[in-house]
Amino acid sequence: MAATARVEPVRWWHDGVGYEIYVRSFADADGDGIGDLPGLTERLEHLAWLGVSAIWLTPIGPSPLFDHGYDVAGYTEVAPEYGDLEDFDALVTRAHELDVKVLCDLVPNHTSAEHPWFVSARSSRDDAFREYYVWRDPAPDGGPPNNWPSHFGGPAWSFDEHTQQYWLHQFASEQPDLNWHHPAVVEEFDRILKFWFERGIDGFRIDVAHSLVTHEDLPDLPEAPSEAEMGVRSQEFERFEHIYDRHQPEVLDVYRRWRAIAEPYDAVLLGEVYELEPELMAPYLDAQDGLHLAFWFPPTHVEWDADELRDALISGMELRAGTLAWVASSHDRSRAVTRFGGGAEGRARALALSTLLFGLPGTPFLYMGEELGLEDAVIPREEAQDPVAVRGGEYERNRDVVRTPMPWSPEPGLGFTSADRAWIRFGDRSEEDTVAAQRDTPDSILHRYRRLVDLRRSLPDLHAAPLEWLTASGPLIAYRRGGVIVAANCGDEPDALDLPDGAWEATFVSADEDASGPLGKRVPLIPSRAVILTRA
Ligand code: GLC
Repeated sequence: MAATARVEPVRWWHDGVGYEIYVRSFADADGDGIGDLPGLTERLEHLAWLGVSAIWLTPIGPSPLFDHGYDVAGYTEVAPEYGDLEDFDALVTRAHELDVKVLCDLVPNHTSAEHPWFVSARSSRDDAFREYYVWRDPAPDGGPPNNWPSHFGGPAWSFDEHTQQYWLHQFASEQPDLNWHHPAVVEEFDRILKFWFERGIDGFRIDVAHSLVTHEDLPDLPEAPSEAEMGVRSQEFERFEHIYDRHQPEVLDVYRRWRAIAEPYDAVLLGEVYELEPELMAPYLDAQDGLHLAFWFPPTHVEWDADELRDALISGMELRAGTLAWVASSHDRSRAVTRFGGGAEGRARALALSTLLFGLPGTPFLYMGEELGLEDAVIPREEAQDPVAVRGGEYERNRDVVRTPMPWSPEPGLGFTSADRAWIRFGDRSEEDTVAAQRDTPDSILHRYRRLVDLRRSLPDLHAAPLEWLTASGPLIAYRRGGVIVAANCGDEPDALDLPDGAWEATFVSADEDASGPLGKRVPLIPSRAVILTRA
């Protein structure tokens, strides 16, 4: 099978690896049990050692934490528990000294209900900020204006007693949706982007990038023909076809505008376009004056099954080459190791998937702790904080389990904090889970990820050569890019891949190093093993 992808000119994000940091749980310098910017700055050396070229920080603005910072109460400030703007500047300076770019999380779909805009907007129907949000009269029966559900359960509307209208919120009621049809909102965000670019950041991860603009008439959503799983949504959310609250064509105008702002700074716009269907994703990435990159989430939704995995990769390759940010884990999804069965087997599988992702055109992203092979933590039901669990009642989708502190070293507090307790459970990490132990162990998961990160950067064919799939079915997934072959056995039995003509050698083997070195006509692959081969 020869599905060859066009490859676009390489920009700085194409030859490196990104790394997502859940700021609240990364490193706590002031001993209050909450991660902060000075703590993060102290730990940047680990990321430079790992070789990542960019970090994405989850939101750092002030927030009443109804959705852990994704309810922003100030877009050009730093929450006091994370530090201040000086700490932020110090972080950016240090990151740049270490050759690490910095991406901030931009949350433009909604603000916090405590944002001064919303506080003002709800004071009266005539308020100057009223139009910053989406208000509607009640339906004739007094209920919500339409049938839209929120992602966190219940209707996407809450009633304001004072002004006798409903406000729209696609997430929690404390996260009112901004009105992107209102020019003043558009201009506010122009200023916010410039504020951070002027402080030296290298790009934004754009939250809920598919839903900023909703249909102006707010029509009812039709019921979905079948229940398709679509991401961070309640089951109730999945009952509908989201044709008026997602993917409205006007959203592309917003990204066109932002691209013009970002380009002089050589900054990247990376959208969280939560869409598993390539054809619905395509408009965002085909517009060459819009988003540079978008996350591709299908690999976070699959079981350990060769056909599902292959589909998750190949379907993404239908999109314009070099525009996907490949992820296996995130702060919103169960970690790959856990999804793939946990333990040594889960770790081997997750590393094999990462190996496949790291050779694809675009930009792979690691989620903090993925490089250690961490599993999801166990959080007792009564300690759940995530609105998906608390509001939506869907405890099995509780995202707290992937948000526990980074295990730096084995002592109590995990080297994360000097406090006895953190804002969330520490998560029962073992000594082998820690950065300290794994850095000292040459064949640890951490060292293997470090090698992968290095190969991503140092093998030029992974940035420029067209891609050709070598297997169309069966347990082996393999592709070739010029003088590089990437292959994994995603089945249960030992197998071997026939190699194209010429001499090949194993440059990276995800498990059992004795398999490295020159090869004959075939490369043996035990289950869950992945390899990167280069011309001998
Ligand atoms: C995105 C974030 C998620 C958050 C939601 C609402 O999906 O990744 O954590 O809950 O947006 O802002």
